[in-house]
Amino acid sequence: MSPSGIMVTGPDSLYVTLLILLHSLTSVSAKFEVLGPTEPIVAVAGDDIILPCYLKPNISVEDMTVDWRNLDFVNYPVYLYQNGKNILEDQNPFYRGRTSLFKEELWRGNTSLKLTRVQGTDEGHYECLIKSQSWYDDVEIQVHVKAVGSRPVVSIEGHREGGMGLVCQSEGWHPEPDLVWLDSKGVSLSAGPPEKHRDLKGFYTVKQHVIVQETDTNLFTCRVQQRRIKEEVETEVHIPSELFDYATPWKLSFLVLFPLGVITVIGLALTVYWIHKKKGAKIDQLIQHQEQQKSVLGK
Ligand SMILES: *[C@@H]1O[C@H](CO)[C@@H](O)[C@H](O)[C@H]1NC(C)=O
Ligand SMILES: *[C@@H]1O[C@H](CO)[C@@H](O)[C@H](O)[C@H]1NC(C)=O
Repeated sequence: MSPSGIMVTGPDSLYVTLLILLHSLTSVSAKFEVLGPTEPIVAVAGDDIILPCYLKPNISVEDMTVDWRNLDFVNYPVYLYQNGKNILEDQNPFYRGRTSLFKEELWRGNTSLKLTRVQGTDEGHYECLIKSQSWYDDVEIQVHVKAVGSRPVVSIEGHREGGMGLVCQSEGWHPEPDLVWLDSKGVSLSAGPPEKHRDLKGFYTVKQHVIVQETDTNLFTCRVQQRRIKEEVETEVHIPSELFDYATPWKLSFLVLFPLGVITVIGLALTVYWIHKKKGAKIDQLIQHQEQQKSVLGK
């Protein structure tokens, strides 16, 4: 039987159905399915990864178009292979120099993409689209990027509103993390608004100011955590209590006034003593004078 059998119309509908089925089987050689992973890919920042994509059946794609895109930037391909060549003029700049296909795998329908030095901006939904002259299919792949940031750096900013101003910063995160300030009992302290910044590679920096009051331990912790990737880093700082002394107004006034008072008391005492001494000297002079007179008279 030939596919032209489809033109035969008969009263028997089962016969027609069979012919249609046969027709679709004859053209199956041109068709293919594009397959990829069903689960999202978790990539660690800085690593090299492979985004799997392949044809079923495993026919050659050497004369087909392989079009990899990140669906967030759909106008600019992540990687484009066409007519046996890589077309990289319109390539998304985020991927420049970081993507490639496995050339030796194309003849058996393996169009997996190699992505090197994973960065924050690589997170997203990808499409692997394969086109032949007569057919196309695609698969979508989800990529999650995981990056644990730096150990928080805590700096002392000085006296602020009757307390001590501290600031904490941690960089290089993905996804965006949360920052909390804690006292030595693990109770979160009320702090300033969180400041978040995303760099050109898509990594996050978090920063937050806090004003702490003196406690029995003077230990404070800055914790930065990312729940989705179950990661946290923290830094504990000890603020010497002498630093607080100058920060508290009543102590400050005590520290200023107490020495002033001492100086005043000493000063007063010296004045009294000096006046007294002068007076004493005068009296002595007087007595001496009188005695001289007495002796003169006595003679
Ligand atoms: C293509 O797939 C078939 C099974 O589906 C397998 O036997 C064959 O080795 C594969 N060919 C290549 C080149 O991978
Ligand atoms: C495609 O090629 C890559 C790189 O060699 C390999 O890791 C992967 O297993 C291949 N995939 C298939 C389906 O053959």
